[in-house]
This record gives sequence, structure tokens and C-alpha cells, in this order.
Amino acid sequence: MEHDGMIQAAGERIRGAANVVVVTGAGVSAESGIDTYRGAGGLWEKHDVNEVATASALRRDPAKVWRFLLLLREHIAAASPNAAHRAIAALEDRVATVRVITQNIDGLHQAAGSRTVLEIHGNVREARDPETGAIHALGELDLERLPPLCPRTGRVLRPNVLYFEEAYDPEIMGLASRWVRQAEVILIVGTSGMVPTPYFLAWEGKSAGAFVIDVNLDRSAPMFTFGTELADLFLQGKAGVVLPQVVALI
Ligand code: APR
Repeated sequence: MEHDGMIQAAGERIRGAANVVVVTGAGVSAESGIDTYRGAGGLWEKHDVNEVATASALRRDPAKVWRFLLLLREHIAAASPNAAHRAIAALEDRVATVRVITQNIDGLHQAAGSRTVLEIHGNVREARDPETGAIHALGELDLERLPPLCPRTGRVLRPNVLYFEEAYDPEIMGLASRWVRQAEVILIVGTSGMVPTPYFLAWEGKSAGAFVIDVNLDRSAPMFTFGTELADLFLQGKAGVVLPQVVALI
């Protein structure tokens, strides 16, 4: 099928669906000027992941891990939602149930108006007490001295982000898993699959009957498709171009 035909087919599938899940990665925010993690110019080319984004780095040098997070936060604060985020939010006017599962920590889906967003890797807006799980808005903390302390208890706080070497929150993943199993269509947008969670979720949804549409500049790493084709439709291109075309047909 050529590209226009596939856009058409994606639009028809979504038009006929009452429940759509959108799973997103860094590629959905690329057109907002936020760096992706992998590939040329990606964050992991410029920063050593073992120094700034692992559980052991957080234990070894929490101030350094915090400084990296605050750098991302600054970068994100200067960005706004792009046409891809807006198209995903606009699905809510056309489909009864739309849920977004994102690996991104930038909050741009919510800024674009998506109302049901599960941030499986956390976010840049909050800190967390590692003992009690209590959440604090970063805006309410003194960030001059890192790591920041809870103003009430004086305890050291950590970013509310999931780092490498850490396990997913089972409650969050339980919810993600329920959502994909209820979905009729799963749109997977701008994720490399190097962290395979989006692909596991899409496979879970697909085995429960969902139609899977992958939107990406490139085909994802074949090892995470387990030798068979995960996507029923692969729409190659920029999310900010492809998604508005699809949504215009619904
Ligand atoms: N439109 C669509 N896809 C795009 C665009 C775009 N404009 N720009 C880039 N992409 C695609 C790339 O082809 C790539 O497949 O987005 C993907 C980005 O991949 P990664 O940088 O690996 O980002 P992601 O998959 O979200 O990373 C997963 O890894 O480091 C961790 O916790 C971090 O959540 C992140 C996780």
C-alpha cells in the first residue's frame, strides 16, 4: 500500500473505534525542539547515561543526577506542544475513549489538552520522598542546594522519574496493561523500542485484538518485534505531519 493509502486506512480504523490508546516516546516531542535520547544529537550522545540516569548514579551522586534533570526541565520549559501532540489531543473529540501512555517526562500531552495521560517514566515537574512516596511540586522546593530537601521533614528528595536499573511501578504498569487490552486501536508514536516497554504493551494489546499503527521516522529495532510484524500499519514520517493527516480523516 502506498503512503496515502495507509494514512487513509489508519483514519478508517480509528474512525470505527470507540477505544484508542496512544503510546508515545521521545519522537513525538522532537518537533517541539526537545532532544530524543538516541540517534545523532540524542541526549545519550551528549551525556553519559551511567552518570545521570541510573539508580546507582542517584545513590553515588544525587546532586549530579538532579542537575541533569533540572537541565531537562529548563529545556522543556522553553518548549510547547507541536502538531503531533495537538492531533493526539484532538482525537478526544472524535473517539469515545482516548488514553495516552507516554515514556516522556515533558508534560506536553497534557499541555496540548490530552486528559488521560499515564506517565510511565515519571515527569520533570515533581520530586518524591523515596521512603514515603510523598510527591512535591519542584516549584515549591529550594533548588539552590541539591539534592533538595522536604521543607517539612528535612528528608532528601529524589526526582519523580524512573531511572535505569529501577523497576516499573506495578500499579502504573497494571493500569497500562488494562488500557491496552481494552483498546481497539493502538497508535505507537516516536519510540525506538530500545526500551522495549511500548512494544510489550502494544503486543499485549494486539494479542487481545487491537489493531496496531506505528508512526515513526524509521522502522524500530527489529529485535523488539520478535521476528514477526508488530504493526498492522507502519506510517513512516514525522509525527507532526502524519498524525494531523490521519486525524483530519476521522
Ligand atoms: N516523528 C516521529 N518519530 C520520530 C521523530 C518525529 N518527528 N523524531 C524522531 N523519531 C523517532 C526516532 O526514529 C526514534 O525511533 O523517535 C524515536 C526516538 O527514540 P529514543 O530516542 O530511543 O526515545 P524513546 O524510545 O522514547 O526512549 C525510551 O529511553 O532513555 C530512555 O527513559 C528514556 O523514555 C526514554 C526511553
